[in-house]
Amino acid sequence: MLHVLEHPLAAHLITLLRDETTKPAHFRTLAYQVSLLLALEATRDLPVRSVEIRTPLESLQSPVLSQPLVIIPILRAGLGMVQPFTDLFPDVSVGYIGMERDHQTARPRSYYCKLPRLSGQRLLVVDPMLATGGSAVAALTAIKEQGGSDLRLLCIVSSPEGVSAVHASHPDVAIFTAAHDRGLDARKYILPGLGDFGDRLYGT
Ligand code: PRP
Ligand code: URA
Repeated sequence: MLHVLEHPLAAHLITLLRDETTKPAHFRTLAYQVSLLLALEATRDLPVRSVEIRTPLESLQSPVLSQPLVIIPILRAGLGMVQPFTDLFPDVSVGYIGMERDHQTARPRSYYCKLPRLSGQRLLVVDPMLATGGSAVAALTAIKEQGGSDLRLLCIVSSPEGVSAVHASHPDVAIFTAAHDRGLDARKYILPGLGDFGDRLYGT
């Protein structure tokens, strides 16, 4: 299942992210803002339970979140999407998966994996760019091998190739994206895309 954010503010923020004149400090703010919109969209169906509270006027049964969240950024660019989750959700833990695409082959290499307890948790994997899908597929496989099952993937920009690759290997994982782009170039960069997200985020 592919969910594309349909919101004029999301479209506005994506335009600024794509603009090559946007500097890293502004780019980081925009990444935060788009990720916040994605966070809201991907958590619409979080379970709640009722608790009894008193307002200044009366008592009532009122909902509170009932399932903790685990956010798993794919390093390094995924780090630019974490803060809205830790700002918004009271009960959140963060796991890390390090993946780096080889510049020649575009194949991912795993270099780090540190995950909290996964079973019974709602797991949100965040990586701003879904290009060939190699990094996301490998990360989702690693998470499932450690017991994760209730998984969603959130990316700021996706390609048709990346979405197909994730759907083929992990049909149970819904994908939330702010922009679904045209395709990949010969170097496996997304078109029109926004370039190398990690480099633009960190000014490298
Ligand atoms: C980027 C991006 C994804 C990956 C997407 O990371 O953040 O992880 O490429 O490409 P794919 O879908 O073809 O695998 P990169 O490997 O450049 O590393 P970085 O986050 O450290 O910059
Ligand atoms: N990684 C990026 O940062 N950008 C792309 O377009 C593809 C992979």
